[in-house]
Amino acid sequence: MEIIIYGSQYGTTEQYAQELSKRNDIKAEGYDNIQDINQYDTIIYLGALYAGSVLGMKKTLSKIDDCSGKKIIIATVGLADPNDKENRDTIRKRIKGQLSDDVFNNVTIYFLRGGIDYSLLNLKHKTMMAFIYRRAKKLKEDERNAEVDAIVETYGKKVSFIDFDSLNPIINEIK
Ligand SMILES: Cc1cc2nc3c(=O)[nH]c(=O)nc-3n(C[C@H](O)[C@H](O)[C@H](O)COP(=O)(O)O)c2cc1C
Repeated sequence: MEIIIYGSQYGTTEQYAQELSKRNDIKAEGYDNIQDINQYDTIIYLGALYAGSVLGMKKTLSKIDDCSGKKIIIATVGLADPNDKENRDTIRKRIKGQLSDDVFNNVTIYFLRGGIDYSLLNLKHKTMMAFIYRRAKKLKEDERNAEVDAIVETYGKKVSFIDFDSLNPIINEIK
């Protein structure tokens, strides 16, 4: 059995998950609705990045008892540009820290770009972004990375980098 699971706070990751669901004809569920992860042999986990963590991923994938014979795909959705190699390496490293070796050694990871709408952010997230933005603005050009650039460029705005074509490699991988 196959399943698409998503961790999304403001909907951009869910949009990717629903599109993937439509194109592959695989059911998509929010991670809170997953009863028994072990019944699936193909798991596609799409999670939004929040301060380096993939929303819901650790909680969900740590319940896998045995990875043998399973196909596990993780796709992160973040604001920072995934064409940036350093950004991809950082995300990969953080994912490694959030999973058991058994799961991490069995996953294929993809990187998608989401969006942000400051008018929707809750107070906690608004405060976090204001803090990061103030700190980021003080950095010199060569001290900035893709994460910092993305925050500085989009601060306070409504921006979407959603690109459903970036799902194509995942669709091929599932086939
Ligand atoms: C508090 C906060 C922390 C974030 N941290 C990261 C991050 O570490 N890396 C990144 O690329 N994007 C980060 N983002 C951007 C989100 O990943 C991006 O908005 C994503 O599209 C959100 O997905 P969702 O709409 O499914 O919740 C952060 C956003 C907020 C509000």
